Amino acid sequence: MSAAPPPCLRDILSKSSAYLEQRKIDSPRLSAELVVAHALGLERLDLYLDLDRPLTEQDLSKIRPLLARRGTGEPMAYILGRKEFYGLKLVVTKDVLIPRPDTELCVDAVLGLYQPDRPLLFADVATGSGAIAVALLVHLPAARCIVTDISARALTVAVKNCEAHGVRDRVLSTQADLLTHLAPAALDLIVANPPYLAESEFSRISKEVADFEPRIALVAGVRGDEYFDPLVEQAMAVLKSGGHLLLETGATQAEKLAGDIRSRSEQWSDIKVLKDYAGLNRYVQARWCPLR
Ligand SMILES: C[S@@+](CC[C@H](N)C(=O)[O-])C[C@H]1O[C@@H](n2cnc3c(N)ncnc32)[C@H](O)[C@@H]1O
Repeated sequence: MSAAPPPCLRDILSKSSAYLEQRKIDSPRLSAELVVAHALGLERLDLYLDLDRPLTEQDLSKIRPLLARRGTGEPMAYILGRKEFYGLKLVVTKDVLIPRPDTELCVDAVLGLYQPDRPLLFADVATGSGAIAVALLVHLPAARCIVTDISARALTVAVKNCEAHGVRDRVLSTQADLLTHLAPAALDLIVANPPYLAESEFSRISKEVADFEPRIALVAGVRGDEYFDPLVEQAMAVLKSGGHLLLETGATQAEKLAGDIRSRSEQWSDIKVLKDYAGLNRYVQARWCPLR
C-alpha cells in the first residue's frame, strides 16, 4: 500500500479554516490564511501562488501551535506580534493594548493643530505600544515627546516601536501614574487614550478583548471615568499657556467630560467634542489659556 500524499497548502488552508469556523472564530478563512502564512514566513497573498505546495511535517509543526492559539480566540495581532497603526507597522505583545483604528483620529486631530516644522514638546500619556507617539513623531519631525505608562512592560514595547521607526532620540520614556512628576508649564500638548471602560462594560465586551488584552489598559474604575479628572487636573499644571489637551473617551463620556472641563476652570478654552468614523462623540479637545 502506498503512503498517503502529504497535505498541500490548499488542504491545510481549508482544514484550518473549518477548524476555526467550528471554534466560532471571527473571519475563519482570513485567520487561517494569516496563521499559515506567518508560520511559513510568507505574505498572505503568496499562498495563492503556490496552493499545490506539499507541506512537510516541519511546516505543519509550525502551523499547529499558532492555529491552536487562534482557536482559543487569541487576537491575530498577538499571534503575529504586530499591528498596523497610521500606516506604520508596530510591535505588539500581550503587555499592550492592540492599537485601534479609532485612535488614528487622535493623530489626525493633532496633525490638524500643528505645522510639521513646529518645535513641540508633547506627552503621550498611557502610551501602551507607543502608537500615538510614534505616529506623531514620524509626521512632526521637529517634535519631541515624553511617553508615560504605569506599566514598565508596555514602555519597553513603546520604546522598541520608537526605535523601529527612527524616533527614539526624540523620546523620553517614564514609568508614571498619568502625568505625575512632569515639570510645570512645560508641555505644548498632552494626548492620551487612557483606559475608559466601566467595570460593568468589561464583563460585556468580546472574549477576544477581555481574555487577552491587559485589563489595566481597559478598565477605569466602577464608572469608567477614573482617569479623566486627574488627567485634566494635572494637565492644568504641566501645559504651557496655549497648550492643547486631547483625550480619547468612550461614546457616552465625551460630552460630559467636555462639560466637566468647562466648569472646572474658565481658563480652558476652545473646548470641542470630536466624532469617530461612526459619527460617535469620542474625543475631547481643549486649550489651556491661563489668565496672566
Ligand atoms: C487604552 S490603553 C492605550 C494605549 C495606547 N495609547 C493606544 O492608544 O493604543 C491604556 C494604557 O494606559 C496604561 N495605564 C493604565 N493606568 C495608568 C496610569 N494610572 N498611568 C499611566 N498609564 C496607565 C495601560 O498600561 C495602557 O497601556
